[in-house]
Amino acid sequence: MKRIGLVTSGGDAPGMNAAIRAVTRVACSQGLEVLGFERGWEGLLTNTFRRLTPRNVGGILHLGGTILRTSRSPEFRKRAGIRKAAETLALNKVDGLVVVGGDGSLRGALELSKETDALIVGVPATIDNDVFGTDETIGFDSAVNTAIVEIDKIRDTANSHDRIFIVEVMGRKRGFLALTIGLTVGAEVILVPEVEYSLEQIVRTLEMNGAKGKKSGIIVAAEGIGDTHKLLKEIEEKAGVEVRLSITGYAQRGGNPTARSRLLANLFGEKAVELLTNNQGNRMVGLEEGKVRSISLEQVCSNEKRLDLSLMKLAQTLAT
Ligand code: F6P
Repeated sequence: MKRIGLVTSGGDAPGMNAAIRAVTRVACSQGLEVLGFERGWEGLLTNTFRRLTPRNVGGILHLGGTILRTSRSPEFRKRAGIRKAAETLALNKVDGLVVVGGDGSLRGALELSKETDALIVGVPATIDNDVFGTDETIGFDSAVNTAIVEIDKIRDTANSHDRIFIVEVMGRKRGFLALTIGLTVGAEVILVPEVEYSLEQIVRTLEMNGAKGKKSGIIVAAEGIGDTHKLLKEIEEKAGVEVRLSITGYAQRGGNPTARSRLLANLFGEKAVELLTNNQGNRMVGLEEGKVRSISLEQVCSNEKRLDLSLMKLAQTLAT
């Protein structure tokens, strides 16, 4: 292993820069060269990269986004695109590639591993935390904290106006973000795609709270549950209360990474280089019960991470 490539792909996540820095510095400390491919898979399709050195990855640890930039590449989803990326790796004599990204990027990594001799290692980084094989992804904690800051403020105005707020959070088709955010802001109701919601149940909860003197409330809804504008109207009509909608949206993807996201980036970055220097490829690094481990990309892509629904019950108990 002499030269490795590094790519950040898919939706950006706070801590991706910390991962770039960690991979580069650990790799260089072991005498490896690092090429950073630009704009996600696009960089491998167009052979666009820059040499990363311990010095030029300085000053980025605390920054959101990714200095390598990222993209969602439709061309890379096709076999021809994947072959082109494999050719780029061969052309530049890249022996190993670290792919930093979420579910879609790791699927891309698996497909690429079938077409190249280079060893591929995935580093899970997505605010959604929906990657099988790791308890947590880089960026998740940062996105949770960003949403908490916003929802705590919404709580103030909700209390002042005796209003119900629906706060829609990101998470793609999964409810990891919504559940953790809901629990940690003390949401009265949490809606996740994994559990079908009932309008009647939501209204009953709000009415029971009203009867107890709790006139305001926060409903944290994952974007994956569907149309929150429609839900707002339905709750207003059925419960006869004023409801407002706030969508946290892309702000959750940006901002400085929290200590937790930086820590994961450092640990995962180190482990990714360790795998490559031990000639182990086609794996993803991850966190399992507090320990950094690795798992095959095949397993990552053929399993679905489970949402811990016991947290939902706890949230309900705590929000009485
Ligand atoms: O995967 C991260 C994420 O922010 C999801 O939460 C969201 O559904 C999606 O990306 C948005 O994707 P795009 O950046 O393509 O609009």
